[in-house]
Amino acid sequence: MNIKYEINRLKNEKDACILAHYYTLPEIQEIADYVGDSYYLSKIAKDLEQSTIVFCGVKFMAESAKLISPQKKVLFPNQEATCDMVNRVDMDKVKELMNEHKNGVLISYVNCSTELKAMSYTCVTSSSAQEVISNVKNKKIIFVPDKNLGGYISSKFPSKEFVLWDGCCCYHDNITSEQVTQKKLLYPNAKVLVHPECREEVRNLADYIGSTSGIIDYATKDAKDEFIVVTDVGILHELEKTNPDKKFYELPINCSSMKLINLQDVYKCLQDEEYEITIEGEISLKATEALEKMHKLARR
Ligand code: 13P
Ligand code: SF4
Repeated sequence: MNIKYEINRLKNEKDACILAHYYTLPEIQEIADYVGDSYYLSKIAKDLEQSTIVFCGVKFMAESAKLISPQKKVLFPNQEATCDMVNRVDMDKVKELMNEHKNGVLISYVNCSTELKAMSYTCVTSSSAQEVISNVKNKKIIFVPDKNLGGYISSKFPSKEFVLWDGCCCYHDNITSEQVTQKKLLYPNAKVLVHPECREEVRNLADYIGSTSGIIDYATKDAKDEFIVVTDVGILHELEKTNPDKKFYELPINCSSMKLINLQDVYKCLQDEEYEITIEGEISLKATEALEKMHKLARR
């Protein structure tokens, strides 16, 4: 069986479209109709003509696609592909934090559950956080769940007070400044591109800090031809494809959940129409509002 041919055939038969994040396997990025960062993927679902979306990434992203386009069937090929940072949030503790800081507004990183989105004033992604928060009037912000992104954003708004949840992406947070410095010694001419989910000590070594699509844009437009990439290795596929004459050096960041979905899963998902994302009731309406507010406040 030619699996790519079969996926294409099923896609046409079922009026489906494949979305993928830059951290997924190269074979997945290659068959996807649209590949992007989490902001782009949270928006595009709405504008697609197809009635079915096969989402390749982690579960919270597929849930966002469903929230933003409730009339579409959203299929998620591998139920095990969940984000560790999302799973570790204790909702009772979030409620306690909100009670403690009654004058604060809850803003959540999209890497969170639908339940947390539903409680939030708005969501942000790493690429939209600055624009969104610059349009939020409240002085005090309770930011959940990524303390690294929260710390980075708070440094851009010295007049605001940030209460940060003590969560992080275990893959990005694992990287130390020593590891980046070692790479710099090996490749002294390379620029350092860092995702804001990294620790402050790592961000301090960056020539550029941004989301996955921000990193790709920066490397593509920059005159330099060597880059140390401090985010998940999945991004190397797009970086190298778009910039065949440039060199990219990776660090050991490899999100296993993002690599779970393979071609076989996508084929099976289209054939059996499994697993369908369903989100119902008030929680769905409120979480959609938070996502739509992000799009409105980001003004793009
Ligand atoms: P972005 O694509 O928004 O940079 O997000 C990275 C990420 O960790 C997604 O889980
Ligand atoms: Fe979650 Fe980190 Fe994986 Fe992104 S890279 S999905 S934040 S565990």
